[in-house]
Amino acid sequence: MNYVGQPVSRVDGPAKVTGQATYAAEFNLKNLAYAALVPSTIAKGWILGIDTAEAERAAGVIAVITHENAPRLAYKGLETRPLVDPQAGEQLHVLEGPEVRFDGQPVAMVVAETQEQARSAATLVRVRYTPGQAITRMDEAEAEPPDPAVQKLGRPEEAGRGDAEGAFAAAPVQVDIACSHEREYHNAIEPHATIAEWDGDTLRLYDKSQWVDNVRMEIAHVFGMAEDKIHVISPFVGGAFGSALRTWPQVTLAALAAKMVQRPVKLELMRRQLYSSIGFRPRTLQRVRLGAERDGTLAAIIQDVVAETSTYEEYAEITAEPPRVVYTCPNVLTRYHLKKLNSNTPCAMRAPGTVSGMMAHEMAMDELAEALGMDPIALRLHNHAERDQDKNLPWSSKKLRECYAMAAERFGWSRRDPAVGSMRQGMLQVGMGMATAYYASHRSPSSAQAVLYANGTAVVRTAASDMGPGTYTAMTQLAADALGLPLEMVDFELGDTDMPKAPVHGGSITLASVGNAVLAVCEALRGKLQALAGADGVPKDPQALIGLLQKHGLAQLKAEADARPGDETKTYSSAAFGAVFAEVHVDPMFGTVRVPRIIGAYDVGKVVNPKIARSQCIGGMVGGVGMALLEQAEWDMRLGRTMNANLAEYLVPVNADVQELEALFVPGEDTIFNPIGSKGVAEIALVGVAPAIANAIYHATGKRMRALPITPEKLLG
Ligand code: MOS
Repeated sequence: MNYVGQPVSRVDGPAKVTGQATYAAEFNLKNLAYAALVPSTIAKGWILGIDTAEAERAAGVIAVITHENAPRLAYKGLETRPLVDPQAGEQLHVLEGPEVRFDGQPVAMVVAETQEQARSAATLVRVRYTPGQAITRMDEAEAEPPDPAVQKLGRPEEAGRGDAEGAFAAAPVQVDIACSHEREYHNAIEPHATIAEWDGDTLRLYDKSQWVDNVRMEIAHVFGMAEDKIHVISPFVGGAFGSALRTWPQVTLAALAAKMVQRPVKLELMRRQLYSSIGFRPRTLQRVRLGAERDGTLAAIIQDVVAETSTYEEYAEITAEPPRVVYTCPNVLTRYHLKKLNSNTPCAMRAPGTVSGMMAHEMAMDELAEALGMDPIALRLHNHAERDQDKNLPWSSKKLRECYAMAAERFGWSRRDPAVGSMRQGMLQVGMGMATAYYASHRSPSSAQAVLYANGTAVVRTAASDMGPGTYTAMTQLAADALGLPLEMVDFELGDTDMPKAPVHGGSITLASVGNAVLAVCEALRGKLQALAGADGVPKDPQALIGLLQKHGLAQLKAEADARPGDETKTYSSAAFGAVFAEVHVDPMFGTVRVPRIIGAYDVGKVVNPKIARSQCIGGMVGGVGMALLEQAEWDMRLGRTMNANLAEYLVPVNADVQELEALFVPGEDTIFNPIGSKGVAEIALVGVAPAIANAIYHATGKRMRALPITPEKLLG
């Protein structure tokens, strides 16, 4: 049997499309009560008083909880913060005092018999404030270096090699550009939701989470309780893109409400509240300077990044890392600074940092190619990074050259007339642009359990997550192959803290981390079978396998195993690579941009499931169209509030905006990086898409649009 590498359809697909998959808000608990939040309407200040009388009298209301009657929670500090949390500052302590730090901060919570009653009564809570002087504009905030704790974890204020300033000044060809993208929200279809249920001193949480073990750990610290008293369940996640990596305040609020009313409580955030209750991709302002010799050899790279964060936590990204890694260059300097605004804290969103840093870098590379009179692919090949110069390590594998060739061929790059504004289709200006994609590959320790039953079925489980990339399916494929069972005989289970520990379902690490634990546990189980079978060997036929268990009077056979990275991380750098090509049609009268084609070729190592990998990649391309053309928080600087906090006014690409998307994979496997040989797909799919589109728009129009999204009014301006 060989399921790995096959385009197997999603094993969880039927459950999802028939409504059998149970999401966090859908667990029907007896005696369930419903909570609704009262968000602050000022961005900074103090609560003077809260009048809850009218809300308390409203139909069905069980409790109105404010900082005046809520218990103080332990908020015990963590010895080590998980990487998904900001490394400096302090998480929002809910309903602890009168201070307001951002618009939309929960200042009260209503618990009622129905969701409608709770949400209705929440509008009756009257809050009086003394407003403070909020900082809501990046240009009025001081650019600050990251906290030392943040810098230690790969977000240095300054990093690089050589003498970048000197080399830039001396370079015969120079590019110096300022570019930016706006704040973006995840906008997953499933709203964040938590159901909390106490049984004496134990707590059960049904939560939308990319990391149930982390929810347990964080809530244990918030409530000052033992981790084994908390059980977290999250079998399905309806999209997240990073928004469910952290344990957000609504989990604490649900648990707090359930404790106070002594009933299970569901807190499902309203669509509007998602924009202030969970994080977002922080806006960045960047300056890129590239210096080159006349033959295109990069002599200097200087990239300055300024990003927004909140006043109470320092969320920082690796935005400045890609410019130090992606091309060969002896003189590199990157700087990274933060501006603290009265806003909720940003968080990871698909390819956090990398997608922002690469956006600016790849737009600058396009400008350099033009300044040199060089083909954009040729410039990149000329400066191809033979090793990771930032870590000074060789790559465990790299097939980026093949990516350029494969995507260029498929796209028909040779048909591109390099002259700007030279290609037309009727009234429309036609442009072709490209960019490099890169995303660092990591893997984390992970464990799994496998049970083979006497009826020939097997269950493999680990506390991982599947927010959509296909964990259920890929793991089932790996397990079926490793156990030698038909796919239908293998069940994969995840999303439960009672299962063996798994790392965060983020950073594109799941396949390389959890996947290898699945392989290891299946091998361990095969070892046990081998011991039973003795000289006869483990039977290949599932029927005979059943006979083997029966012969030994076993109802089941169980194994547990771990997998972890080894010393290869000290001797190699690992990353996924890609090349993205986009065609645009620009209407010069209206400034509208259509993207008829995006073609990407990727080196992601072994592709376990080409159907799902393709799905990941075209999803990333859709996100890239959003970043390039549509997505932005319409931020009211007077109020410190995102005004388009809904799916109608926050623009994302819809079907009519998306045309031909194609993802190609360069064959290969990276078995230095991990035994499966996969480098991870998810995040890289978004990288490079927006700059490829921006570069194509320049090629079509001759207008350098360096502030994303490139909206019609900007193009006409
Ligand atoms: Mo991804 S932003 O690590 O969920």
